[in-house]
Amino acid sequence: MRQQGRFITFEGGEGSGKSTQAKRLAERLKLRGHEVIQTREPGGSPGAEAIRHLLLSGIAKPLGPEAETFMFAAARDDHVSTTIRPALARGAWVVCDRFIDSTRVYQGSLGNVDQRLIRALERLVVGETRPDVTFILDVPPEIGLSRVATRGNAVDRFEAEHLEYHRLLRESYRDLAEQEPERCVLVDGSPGADAIAVRIWMQVSERFLRPAGAIATPRASL
Ligand code: TYD
Repeated sequence: MRQQGRFITFEGGEGSGKSTQAKRLAERLKLRGHEVIQTREPGGSPGAEAIRHLLLSGIAKPLGPEAETFMFAAARDDHVSTTIRPALARGAWVVCDRFIDSTRVYQGSLGNVDQRLIRALERLVVGETRPDVTFILDVPPEIGLSRVATRGNAVDRFEAEHLEYHRLLRESYRDLAEQEPERCVLVDGSPGADAIAVRIWMQVSERFLRPAGAIATPRASL
């Protein structure tokens, strides 16, 4: 019998290491013979990648956080319908770097966009296509931002925000992990990438890859 694919998302502040971990998890699943779609937001489909440019360059910033929220939702709509849903429907695993929680935190908690609007857009755009598990990489913003600085790339619209913004971002992600302990796993992002990858793999295999009959004991925090 064909095994069912799962939808796994990675979240966290700037330089938290989530993109590295998303890539490593996708590679590990592929090694086990699964079909894996590794994707990201904003982006992940041609239409959404076009909108990504408007959002990250800062062109859309003067329109305000509400307009940015609509643009993230438009990008997500294209991404979900052309990339994520078809992949899950054929049994593939989807590993996505950022998803609905980024909107809840960046536009909602930090941008003060009404959470009722954000949840309404989620229902409309995402519907039942919710992540099975979300790993939230947690690092102090000083560490995250210094990692971003050593990459040597130009900073984007959100990376350029002040330190206090990044502190609040971290707190909002931690609150979110507390609010949804079944889905969200808070992962300490300070250790080396190898140690973090092992912890994430343990969670994925405990939750989804155990032989039938084995008792899974998901832990909300690592
Ligand atoms: P990206 O270059 O993908 O970097 P990273 O994910 O490593 O930070 O930047 C995406 C940026 O977009 C990031 O600063 C968070 C922001 N973002 C939102 O504000 N809302 C959203 O819904 C999403 C998906 C991303």
